[in-house]
Amino acid sequence: MDAISVIRAKRDGGRLSDAQIDWIIDAYTRGEVAHEQMSALAMAIFLTGMDRAEIARWTAAMIASGERMDFSSLPRPTADKHSTGGVGDKITLPLAPLVAACGAAVPQLSGRGLGHTGGTLDKLESIPGWRASLSNDDMLDVLRSVGSVICAAGDGLAPADKKLYALRDVTGTVESIPLIASSIMSKKIAEGTGSLVLDVKVGSGAFMKDIDAARELATTMVGLGTDHGVRTTALLTDMATPLGLTAGNALEVRESVEVLAGGGPADVVELTLALAREMLDAAGLPDADPAKALADGTAMDHWRRMITAQGGDADASLPVAREQHIVTAESTGVLTRLDAYAVGVAAWRLGAGRARKEDPVQAGAGIEIHAKPGDQVTAGQPLLTLHTDTPAAFTYALEALDGATDYAPEGTAFTSKPIVLERIA
Ligand code: URA
Repeated sequence: MDAISVIRAKRDGGRLSDAQIDWIIDAYTRGEVAHEQMSALAMAIFLTGMDRAEIARWTAAMIASGERMDFSSLPRPTADKHSTGGVGDKITLPLAPLVAACGAAVPQLSGRGLGHTGGTLDKLESIPGWRASLSNDDMLDVLRSVGSVICAAGDGLAPADKKLYALRDVTGTVESIPLIASSIMSKKIAEGTGSLVLDVKVGSGAFMKDIDAARELATTMVGLGTDHGVRTTALLTDMATPLGLTAGNALEVRESVEVLAGGGPADVVELTLALAREMLDAAGLPDADPAKALADGTAMDHWRRMITAQGGDADASLPVAREQHIVTAESTGVLTRLDAYAVGVAAWRLGAGRARKEDPVQAGAGIEIHAKPGDQVTAGQPLLTLHTDTPAAFTYALEALDGATDYAPEGTAFTSKPIVLERIA
């Protein structure tokens, strides 16, 4: 077997055989196939696609490139959630302890932010002392004692994907449904969860800008999970508007704690409960009542235990950025649009996100949102508060926010989109 014949086959629109897929993934992981050859193949896949059987084999080969975790010794059913990423998407923070409080074990391997979408680990690292890196044994201990754990994936899990994703990131080959689906699902299947709920975001702040593409991605991932024996469902959810009233690391932790305390913005609570119900159903616990666990403090209790088990101080004050700048409403009337992508880019430029994997993030940086689409506003009232330690960033953040809002005359009827757009099983 050689890389050039595999690249040529895909370049010319052919399908790759199982043997070709197994060989190229293994040879690339071992360093025998060069990055430039894998780049050419990724671009050929980006341009000509893969059929369902090729995607399944590609995913299986990436799983086989590393270790598989095993949670079968746990006394509870396992349930995990994966979001394709959005702006203000802090849902994992309240969701994992909430689902644990309802009786499932939640092994939540999470990532860091890159570009305009935030990362769960960056958010949690704004809690003093909290550690993202755990050994597999420590992860299992926290799952056993608390029921939920949120931590970084170890290097042993789907190493082929780790290499390939870094390559795709710098070769313009990220936005390919076969490559995204196999990348996400290889890690989730290797992680060993028994059930999985996918939160596939749709809209300006998401990877998938339109619902047809999101539906195709969700259907592909649900098929891959099901074929590998993981009970998998997907919700397509709105990401045209930022989720909740904050975007940025410590700001989002604060909002998540409000949700766990029984408050918080309505859209965050609605999506947290919708995903919790899906996870509990998939885990075989359909009678559990996540709304009750939020209201009676058991979810909060699990959150505190989970943070403490990973070295964090659940009572510590969270970092606050040194400088603030208020953006005001331009018109009087009904706010009809607050663009998620613009808010995400602005938060990133304020220091909440990173441009390169090795860049640091500012824990206190980000954006507080004072009005959402459908709210009546008056010209000059505060719409957003920008937070940063580096005031020079305000100019760039304000550039990103140029044109991010629309208004309609006072009294105009406004129907807000539902958060959950579709369910795919
Ligand atoms: N997240 C992943 O893990 N992989 C992709 O390809 C895209 C998003």
